[in-house]
Amino acid sequence: RYRDTNAEEKMNPFAEQEALEEHQIGKATLKYGSKNKKQAADDYQFVFEDQIDFIKASVTDGDNFDYEEMEDSLEKSRAKSALEALKEERKKLPIYPYREELLQAIRDHQAWFFPASVLVIVGETGSGKTTQIPQYLHEAGYTKRGMIACTQPRRVAAMSVAARVSQEMGVKLGHEVGYSIRFEDCTSEKTILKYMTDGMLLREFLGEPDLASYSVVMVDEAHERTLSTDILFALVKDIARFRPDLKLLISSATLDAEKFSDYFDSAPIFKIPGRRYPVEINFTKAPEADYLDAAIVTSLQIHVTQPPGDVLVFLTGQEEIETAEEILKHRTRGLGTKIAELIICPIYANLPTELQAKIFEPTPEGARKVVLATNIAETSLTIDGIKYVIDPGFCKMKSYNPRTGMESLLVTPISKASAMQRAGRSGRTGPGKCFRLYTAYNFHNDLDDNTVPEIQRTNLANVVLTLKSLGIHDLVHFNFMDNPPAEALLQALELLFALSALNTSGELTKVGRRMAEFPVDPMLSKMIVASEKYKCSDEIISIAAMLSVGNSIFYRPKDKQVHADNARMNFHTGNVGDHIALLKVYTSWKETNYSTQWCYENYIQVRSMKRARDVRDQLAGLLERVEIELTSNPGDLDAIKKSITSGFFPHFARLQKNGSYQTVKHPQTVNIHPSSGLAQVLPRWVVYHELVLTTKEYMRQVTELKPEWLVEIAPHYYQLKDVEDAGSKKMPRGEGRAQ
Ligand code: CDP
Ligand code: MG
Repeated sequence: RYRDTNAEEKMNPFAEQEALEEHQIGKATLKYGSKNKKQAADDYQFVFEDQIDFIKASVTDGDNFDYEEMEDSLEKSRAKSALEALKEERKKLPIYPYREELLQAIRDHQAWFFPASVLVIVGETGSGKTTQIPQYLHEAGYTKRGMIACTQPRRVAAMSVAARVSQEMGVKLGHEVGYSIRFEDCTSEKTILKYMTDGMLLREFLGEPDLASYSVVMVDEAHERTLSTDILFALVKDIARFRPDLKLLISSATLDAEKFSDYFDSAPIFKIPGRRYPVEINFTKAPEADYLDAAIVTSLQIHVTQPPGDVLVFLTGQEEIETAEEILKHRTRGLGTKIAELIICPIYANLPTELQAKIFEPTPEGARKVVLATNIAETSLTIDGIKYVIDPGFCKMKSYNPRTGMESLLVTPISKASAMQRAGRSGRTGPGKCFRLYTAYNFHNDLDDNTVPEIQRTNLANVVLTLKSLGIHDLVHFNFMDNPPAEALLQALELLFALSALNTSGELTKVGRRMAEFPVDPMLSKMIVASEKYKCSDEIISIAAMLSVGNSIFYRPKDKQVHADNARMNFHTGNVGDHIALLKVYTSWKETNYSTQWCYENYIQVRSMKRARDVRDQLAGLLERVEIELTSNPGDLDAIKKSITSGFFPHFARLQKNGSYQTVKHPQTVNIHPSSGLAQVLPRWVVYHELVLTTKEYMRQVTELKPEWLVEIAPHYYQLKDVEDAGSKKMPRGEGRAQ
């Protein structure tokens, strides 16, 4: 029914680029599909003066799948019961015809000379790898010998896929099918299919180094090459050698399959031929100055002028998505009944679970859905019904400077491979269109071919601590698929040494062993472990929990900003600093018996607070495990601040004459984030939780400290001259540097 002869070609991420070269770049076109297109276009022009011109550049190859027939049988299946319908839908997936072949490959390929049993599986997004393969294996009896683990790089994907599979199997989520993500374990004794983040499986090695409770481990979305996935590769490869019964599957959306196979001692590759419709690729004529605005204009342009079909817009993060949502709502409201209904669905990592389901709901007749998504929709999640993709060409990416140890999340141009994946999202259920908000010239000349694996652009302290606790000492010769920069490894070792997690021979200390039990970054876990000494573990885990929730505690409605700011500043009375303010928020909420009303009154997100409470409960459990008593010392703010300093002393900055700050260890100019309670206070010495780069390099969550604490707490890291007051007072700007 569909062509599978040139699977090779379909795997080629640059087929489009090649196709592009064959095409004459035509005149700007945006075809009007609606019946009263003239009217629609006029209305559109009337309301929005700005319109973006696109140049149709190429059309990717599709294959001749019988769309109507599929629609037809889908229609029929809708009539049946929900479960029956889901069963029918499962059979429509591209992977279904290969079920037996795949099971046989998993059964048979094990070579007599090599005990490891590894199969690389490649198939386009939406072919059914994540939802179906674990079910097939279950149906074939593999769960009799142990659980099936399927790892996902993203929390949202793990949760939503588990939810889908539990529906397909007609069981309650958390029973036979469950998920496990950091600070949230939705599994039970019954669980046989376990979807989990790659980071969680990594942590399971700590408790069960041979993963004995699993019969199958599927490292899914391998092409994403997250840090945890890369480390998992090495660890599962190792255990597969002495666990011949373990089935190891590495699955990926088309890219780098050979590389995976090579890494796993020439493991066989199983290809699932995809089903693909042609996608028309459009570029802008000229570069867009504001891609967010361009994305909004293009969404409306599509809505008003194009035939039915949902729209998927790739944005970089929650804030951007919320802004876009607001603007879109505002503009469509302005248009009133002139246009059809536009349903706006955001999806990003921290989106509350109950709202996630909305993106999968079918769009009602006559309406159009616009999904505003982060990179998560690139390959991790498949949303049916998407016909138009808007690709601004950016994503948020971690970048790390191994020289300074500074990490930041930056909005970065995507790779060509990513652009290809994004475009492909529009051609899943019929011919699609992709609108790239950049020029063809940009595409060819400015985008890298592939995304650099995370291991080469991140802080490795956490991973090094995990590996050390697994007894892996020689990290230089560790079997990485791509080696991390030597400098980054060194930085990680140095930081762990400074935090007293490693001794001078690079061995794990008692402090380090305790730190490794906490699923948080080493500076945060050190802060927790150090609270034992200052007898304030009770307060510190509240602070740690609040910090883990991120920056979604306070909200600031546009029309009530002054009220919201006043409410927030109440917690900062006495200029206690942001950490103590977070503690005050938590304890006040607790004193009201976790009241929702109290949250409303104080402009605090109750959802974030509940999450903080969950995280706190787990941290309390982990304290018990490492035998640290829960002791409270609420009156002694210095003790609490000293615990914070014990973990975060590398994040130490001092005030400059011009009101900005300079980090002490690796001098860099930074500023206090405007949302901080200390933004107007400007204490001379501060520690900060993290740096964020927006218009400037900002310190977020800041607390004042006394410089002599540094010499007391981290004498091996700071010397007296680093913290001497004279340094910043007398020397002109820029010269007051350490070293
Ligand atoms: O892993 P892969 O990209 O190959 O596909 P999948 O995630 O297993 O998705 C297969 C199908 O399941 C998709 O066509 C989606 O329609 C459906 N699905 C869903 O409806 N809801 C989810 N949360 C996940 C998948
Ligand atoms: Mg998948």
